[in-house]
Amino acid sequence: MTAAVLAGLGTHLPPRRVLNEELAERFNTSDEWIRSRTGIRQRRWADLGVSTGDLAVEAGHRALKSAGPDVTVDTLVLATTTPDHPCPATAPDVAARLGLGEIAAYDLSAVCSGFVYALACAAGSIEAGRSRGALVVASETYSTILNPEDRTTSVIFGDGAGAVVLRRGTPEEVGALAGFDLGSDGSHKDLIHIPAGGSRQRASHAPPTPEDAYFTMRGREVFQHAVHRMASSSTGLLEQVGWTADSVDRLVGHQANLRILHALADELGLDTERVVTNIERVGNTSAASIPLALADAVARNAVAPGDRVLLTAFGGGLTWGSVVLTWPDLTPA
Ligand code: UT7
Repeated sequence: MTAAVLAGLGTHLPPRRVLNEELAERFNTSDEWIRSRTGIRQRRWADLGVSTGDLAVEAGHRALKSAGPDVTVDTLVLATTTPDHPCPATAPDVAARLGLGEIAAYDLSAVCSGFVYALACAAGSIEAGRSRGALVVASETYSTILNPEDRTTSVIFGDGAGAVVLRRGTPEEVGALAGFDLGSDGSHKDLIHIPAGGSRQRASHAPPTPEDAYFTMRGREVFQHAVHRMASSSTGLLEQVGWTADSVDRLVGHQANLRILHALADELGLDTERVVTNIERVGNTSAASIPLALADAVARNAVAPGDRVLLTAFGGGLTWGSVVLTWPDLTPA
């Protein structure tokens, strides 16, 4: 049998650090509020003119370097909420800039669950024999869609990109993606959305107000869904693959909020030492948050080869998804 095996990991953060103190001056908030409600101390924001594609190229380049020259990549899936343009997709441009040739390249839109969804798509192509290897990139520039009048969202989100390389292998190999759970509930689509910019609200008919062009989130309701959906997706997947919750060495959840991650661990019966977090330093980077957290954890030796790792994400849509693997011996670049 064929499986998709994790072969490389790379990340990129824009250099500009935005500390809570800086936002406290601009918004009617404080470092204390942001830290106690979210766990965030700082995030990175891209400078004007730097796009999602630019961050994706950097992360993609590093993931390819981490995988080494022996892995063939013939597919690129780019998960993002903030593409460079409404049309065309950002992925073909990223593939061209990475020198990957005329490979299959497409964007995937699943908001904060985008990385897990993109992994599932790429793994499916490898398992079906349509792809020999894939670059999965999650890249976001939320700073470009945040409403400067909305202190709740503006203090949470950060920019960044993470990427992994998947290669064709077998299910017995360390690093094989051992199972997925994906789901959605569109009846709650308004909890996280950007009202304008698509076909629903036509710019040609009624130009959007500035507020309609910005990202909105009903935070408190989203919080409840996030904990519940990531917990039930994780539990369902663990059952599917025959792992007990106790056998999970590291839980790498979407870095939405430190309180959400702790509540999730509690639901799963995992002590917080097994919870991987880097939200303190990068904020909520949406689709990019899981690969960024993973690379950070590997660098701190908080994830080691042989560890059983559960990745779980939740986002707008609503969407959610989980994946499990045994961590391979790789060096992120
Ligand atoms: O990544 C996709 C998924 N996203 C998430 O999972 C995010 C989920 N939600 C959250 O993380 C939290 O709901 C937030 C961090 C967004 C908000 O925290 P909260 O504890 O749920 O606060 P809240 O929205 O219930 O607001 C509590 C109070 C309100 O004031 P009143 O009505 O109690 O007087 C807000 O106006 O906090 C106020 N508030 C702020 N105060 C200072 C909201 N934002 C701020 C702020 N600074 N930045």
